[in-house]
Amino acid sequence: MRTAIYPGSFDPIHNGHLDVIGRAAKLCERVVVAVAVNHAKTGLFSMEERVDLIRAASARIPGIEVKSFSGLLVDFVREEKGDAVIRGLRAVSDFEYEFQMALMNRSLDENFETIFLMPSQKNIYLSSRIVKEVATLGGDIDRFVPEVVKAALRAKLGR
Ligand code: PNS
Repeated sequence: MRTAIYPGSFDPIHNGHLDVIGRAAKLCERVVVAVAVNHAKTGLFSMEERVDLIRAASARIPGIEVKSFSGLLVDFVREEKGDAVIRGLRAVSDFEYEFQMALMNRSLDENFETIFLMPSQKNIYLSSRIVKEVATLGGDIDRFVPEVVKAALRAKLGR
């Protein structure tokens, strides 16, 4: 496959995301990590911060580009000439939401394909929300995020 798009909120990127990016990079020539502008909620990190953190965290993986987009994912995928969208699937609980998104996207564009990749078991329970909660409450997040994200979380949370 030539180009895969890996969309998400990435607020912030964690080791589960990096696990999926690494797997996608082995399958595709070019992986575009696409940070979505969420009109419904403001995150902890700004769009620029999220993009910078992903760039820093994925710098050693070849073939990775990091971009932001607003609007529909189907339009971004078309603009980038994406062959498929990659999503991480951690547990059965993810399935319903992912199924709904994949089929909505396909109904918006019949050529839209979603490929699900599973992170390794050690990263299966990670989510940005849980990592932020643990960091906010002073827990150790060393195993969950790269050093650059840990430092950014510390600075953001004043810890
Ligand atoms: O990491 P997330 O928050 O689960 O990612 C969700 C995301 C960003 C992939 C999804 O909300 C999205 O595609 N947003 C772009 C807007 C869009 O196309 N919405 C309709 C698709 S269901």
